Amino acid sequence: MSDSNLGKATSPAPATGKLAIFTPGLGAVATTFIAGVERVRRGLSVPIGSLSQMATIRLGKRTDGRSPLIKDFVSLAKLDDIVFGAWDPIPDNAYESAVNAGVLEKSDIEPIAEFLKGIKPMPAVFESRYVTRITRATNVKTGKNKRDLAEQIRADIRNVMQSSGATRGVMVWTGSTETFISPGPQHQTIEAFEKAMEENDDSIAPSMLYAYAAIMEGIPYCNGAPNLSADFPALLDLAIEKGVPVSGKDFKTGQTWMKTIIAPGLKARMLGLEGWYSTNILGNRDGEVLDDPASFKTKEASKLSVLHTILQPEVYPELYKDFSHVVRINYYPPRGDNKEGWDNIDIKGWLGYPMQIKINFLCRDSILAAPMVLDLALFSDFAMRAGMKGIQEWLSFYYKAPQTAPGLQPEHDLFIQQTKLKNTLRHLMGEEQITHLGLEYYQ
Ligand SMILES: NC(=O)c1ccc[n+]([C@@H]2O[C@H](COP(=O)([O-])OP(=O)(O)OC[C@H]3O[C@@H](n4cnc5c(N)ncnc54)[C@H](O)[C@@H]3O)[C@@H](O)[C@H]2O)c1
Repeated sequence: MSDSNLGKATSPAPATGKLAIFTPGLGAVATTFIAGVERVRRGLSVPIGSLSQMATIRLGKRTDGRSPLIKDFVSLAKLDDIVFGAWDPIPDNAYESAVNAGVLEKSDIEPIAEFLKGIKPMPAVFESRYVTRITRATNVKTGKNKRDLAEQIRADIRNVMQSSGATRGVMVWTGSTETFISPGPQHQTIEAFEKAMEENDDSIAPSMLYAYAAIMEGIPYCNGAPNLSADFPALLDLAIEKGVPVSGKDFKTGQTWMKTIIAPGLKARMLGLEGWYSTNILGNRDGEVLDDPASFKTKEASKLSVLHTILQPEVYPELYKDFSHVVRINYYPPRGDNKEGWDNIDIKGWLGYPMQIKINFLCRDSILAAPMVLDLALFSDFAMRAGMKGIQEWLSFYYKAPQTAPGLQPEHDLFIQQTKLKNTLRHLMGEEQITHLGLEYYQ
């Protein structure tokens, strides 16, 4: 971790001026996020699900009665100051894409239709070999090589900043899940990475070019998908060098969010686990992309890591050794964005007696993800102003597979993640950490 991340940052600069939020990918999540922000700023909706807009933070002792809203405690960009920039290989504007995604009702979209029609995707850096199931990819950049394409994204960023008058920017990857790529020698140093871009190396996926462009332009990068994207030494070193916060990977929305609530509860009570079977059906474009085994492999790796890290079978072999963990995603078009997940959890209690928990979660993927895009953008912008750079572990709260320093186990327990997030805000603002010891009330 860099020095500036360890020490208390000097009071973060206030959020004055406009903030440009860039989304590579203008699909279900991005349009639900953009439409939501616009509805909230017109007073038509409430930003439910967003910590940055709705949560409070306790400061000092419980008897002090200080619990301001987070957005009043730290200087976050105001929703009115947000402007949007997006790229997508599909040429639909945000209105067409939102209608097509089928997440929001027509009655929620129509009052803001003109606004959404004004958000047109810039031509994307896209290659179907990394996302095989996208058809209609006509809005695509061409260039001399991958480095040239990355330079074109940088130019887009500068143009949006200039034309909108934005003083700061943040990028959140809301594009499709790319095929699985393991980091290789091309990803170890920035020199090797830049050379690989020039040589059009296959190991350089489009999302890496967006991440590189963002970092080079000095804007934080957040990765909502499980793609490798910015999770390797070359780009992480670059982020430190440029003073840019990065975080990822893969929004923690439906089943995995549930896992990181239930599993810590089982472990807290020292109850054992024999197996956890998760399956779900969804019918949106994301589901279609994940129907391709290569994209699913990326997602599966991200989903499987959670239970093992929380339950620590190596520390508690009698409880968790060799538990079975199966994750299935099935593309089922009639369901659209309204995913249905089933979890069967085989647990064991006192004297080894078996019990079962069944969860049937009828969720809406993009409704859960949209407020995370907002929070990640606002908190990453705040982190940048607070002098934070490189991996932002305190934003693990939002991710299925949190990026951490090399050799460090990620923290998956949702409530530890929440404490970490709030304590980081307290720390950056010079407030005392809350330890929950509480002995002072009994002396
Ligand atoms: N909704 C959730 O709960 C959730 C949770 C975790 C992760 N995610 C991830 O978020 C991402 C977005 O999900 P979604 O439901 O909006 O999917 P979507 O298919 O509706 O939208 C993704 C968009 O990205 C575009 N795209 C693909 N490659 C691109 C590129 N190289 N540059 C720019 N755009 C590109 C596609 O054309 C598409 O319009 C997916 O990777 C998904 O796995 C979603």
